[in-house]
Amino acid sequence: MTNDIVVVGSGGHAISVTNVALSCGYTVISYVDDCQAGKKILGTPVITFEECYSIYFSHNICIAIGDNAVREQVFKEYKVKMASAKFPILVHESCVIGINTHIDEGTVVMPLANIGPNSTLGKCCIVNTSSSIDHDCKIDDFASIAPGVITGGIVSIGKRTAISIGATIKHDTSIGVDVVIGANSYVDKNIGNCMVAYGSPCRKVRDREIGEAYLT
Ligand SMILES: CC(C)(COP(=O)(O)OP(=O)(O)OC[C@H]1O[C@@H](n2cnc3c(N)ncnc32)[C@H](O)[C@@H]1OP(=O)(O)O)[C@@H](O)C(=O)NCCC(=O)NCCS
Repeated sequence: MTNDIVVVGSGGHAISVTNVALSCGYTVISYVDDCQAGKKILGTPVITFEECYSIYFSHNICIAIGDNAVREQVFKEYKVKMASAKFPILVHESCVIGINTHIDEGTVVMPLANIGPNSTLGKCCIVNTSSSIDHDCKIDDFASIAPGVITGGIVSIGKRTAISIGATIKHDTSIGVDVVIGANSYVDKNIGNCMVAYGSPCRKVRDREIGEAYLT
């Protein structure tokens, strides 16, 4: 059982998480999605949330939901309903993790990502394929870093913030909570909270409501 893991979600991100989990030596024994229950993914059954709570209350769980706010909400529900469940850190074997870097529970680091030294990744973050986080960075809980994102050193990214595909963030820059930075942006100045910003240079485009869908 220690090498078994239940993946919560059934979309493309759940498949990517499966790929990382296998690389870490886990066996995926179930997926969880009320809308897909009864079906199979990669030959493995999909069950409902209620079934998961009653059967797998003390198992390893990974919340494979791409929307940052929904992932936070589901993680918090699981913590309450499944007090003995564990949320392992999943780092693909191809990644490079620097010295003195700390990664919190539930975070997934996809293939070929680089995390520089002295950095911290919070709970249930997603660090996607071929992204590079440099030294002394702080990625807060439930944030997501899309494929091909590059940050310089001493970059701070707030809770639930999504950095879209291919964005570049200058060293010593801070991005607030509940922000979406658009694809291919160059962030050269601090960005506040609750907004969509994009472009090169990256600037605020509009406010963002908490709970608004993340990436289009
Ligand atoms: C930032 C983003 C979420 C904005 O979405 P949105 O508010 O729905 O914006 P729209 O798609 O309606 O586009 C509005 C306009 O802004 C432009 N625009 C959108 N994103 C842009 C970006 N990143 N850079 C430059 N221009 C952009 C669009 O071309 C469009 O211009 P137009 O009005 O001249 O046609 C989205 O464009 C984006 O970057 N998504 C990234 C998805 C991603 O990285 N997924 C990774 C999954 S792992």
